[in-house]
Amino acid sequence: MKVRKAVIPAAGLGTRFLPATKAMPKEMLPIVDKPTIQFIVEEAKKAGIEDILIVNGKNKRSIENHFDSNPELEQDLKSTGKIELLNLTQEVTDLGVNLYYTRQPYPAGLGDAIYRARSFVGNEPFVVMLGDDLMRDKVPLTKQLMNDYDKTHASTIAVMKVPHEEVSKYGVIAPEDEIEPGLINVKSFVEKPAVEDAPSDYAIIGRYLLTPEIFDILEHTKPGRGGEVQLTDAIDTMNKTQRVFAHVFKGQRFDVGNKEGYLETSIQYGLRHPETRDALKKYIIELGKKLSK
Ligand code: G1P
Repeated sequence: MKVRKAVIPAAGLGTRFLPATKAMPKEMLPIVDKPTIQFIVEEAKKAGIEDILIVNGKNKRSIENHFDSNPELEQDLKSTGKIELLNLTQEVTDLGVNLYYTRQPYPAGLGDAIYRARSFVGNEPFVVMLGDDLMRDKVPLTKQLMNDYDKTHASTIAVMKVPHEEVSKYGVIAPEDEIEPGLINVKSFVEKPAVEDAPSDYAIIGRYLLTPEIFDILEHTKPGRGGEVQLTDAIDTMNKTQRVFAHVFKGQRFDVGNKEGYLETSIQYGLRHPETRDALKKYIIELGKKLSK
């Protein structure tokens, strides 16, 4: 069956970015000039996803507004001849994917947020895309997972090696064997293990391809780490009755879920943005000289 649907959870409280996220979702924080959630929606689109459900929390109206048209602004840009800006504004509304929204009433965990997508997904395989990770590769990571699914018809979770001391920030896999280069048979999945207990340095990064059986499991998954319903726990349970693979991502990952990663990503993207790259590069070189004195 073709993978057509994606779920983007965007219901977190964004506490790492307070006070910026007091009245605004962290998914609307821009990288240069584009909110992070737009990068995720664009990745889905590039992968061939047709329908996207965004699971919102409180204060998330601005996400819906961002992907909606804004006739007043568009009229103003048109009458002042700002055609390039008009195109950029309209592109967001005409991305060519269908967007749907639902709400997660309480921040009860990633597993609970995904469970809200049950009737949207129905009985099809689907992808989960987390907004904290921006991925860069020739083939979008979501598409790489979809290509795996075409071969295996099994759930596949994107992973990446991270420095050993950082494993406790992630879901981690215990690898069994590699069935082909970059595709791993997994023994178990553990959510945020202590560094000394981690079964490997392969961390779950924010892209998952899941079969719909995950919903039957999520329905009965008890709160785990942090008192929240963990998607990783449900995946581990599913792995006992059907195969779940891990796909090793070889591209670049930008973690925009914390302050330092967010700033680094802004610099990296700013160095590629046609409007900012030359001036920013010059500034960074000068700043580097000053800082290393
Ligand atoms: C979530 C998942 C975790 C995963 C991580 C990737 O954690 O629970 O398994 O490794 O995303 O970004 P969070 O970062 O939301 O705490």
